[in-house]
Amino acid sequence: AKILVVHGPNLNLLGRREPSIYGHTTLEDINRNLVAKAQAASVVLDTFQSNAEHELIDRVQEAMNDGTGFIIINPAALTHTSIALRDALAATNLPFVEIHLSNIYAREHFRHTSYFSDIAVGVISGLGAAGYELALQFALARQ
Ligand code: DQA
Repeated sequence: AKILVVHGPNLNLLGRREPSIYGHTTLEDINRNLVAKAQAASVVLDTFQSNAEHELIDRVQEAMNDGTGFIIINPAALTHTSIALRDALAATNLPFVEIHLSNIYAREHFRHTSYFSDIAVGVISGLGAAGYELALQFALARQ
């Protein structure tokens, strides 16, 4: 089965965006590394980023019909606001890991709540770009 990696709003700016919080790695770097690691394991990995909530929802819905078996998602700010994206993930009934580059619990209070964590297989927060790699490792081992 395929693995889908979804990146939410503003993550297209990774590398340039508040690097002291989010690091210097670009989204392209992250995606390229994940695709290569999946390829080495003979698994197809798709990546998708959007700043638009409805596009993220549409892409997650597509995962119900495109052979996806596992989702890795950083919902970014939508983590703290989007019941609609949560509902889309729940609708797929696919296992997913929630990723945050930063440790959301060490930041502003409004980042301490997630609409995703209780239905995720697991959550990785604060390990930077390595979090995506670790989630992929987990996904590959689970196949
Ligand atoms: C984030 C944390 C969110 O609170 C924030 O809105 C983001 C990125 C992270 O990866 O640390 O955009 O999900």
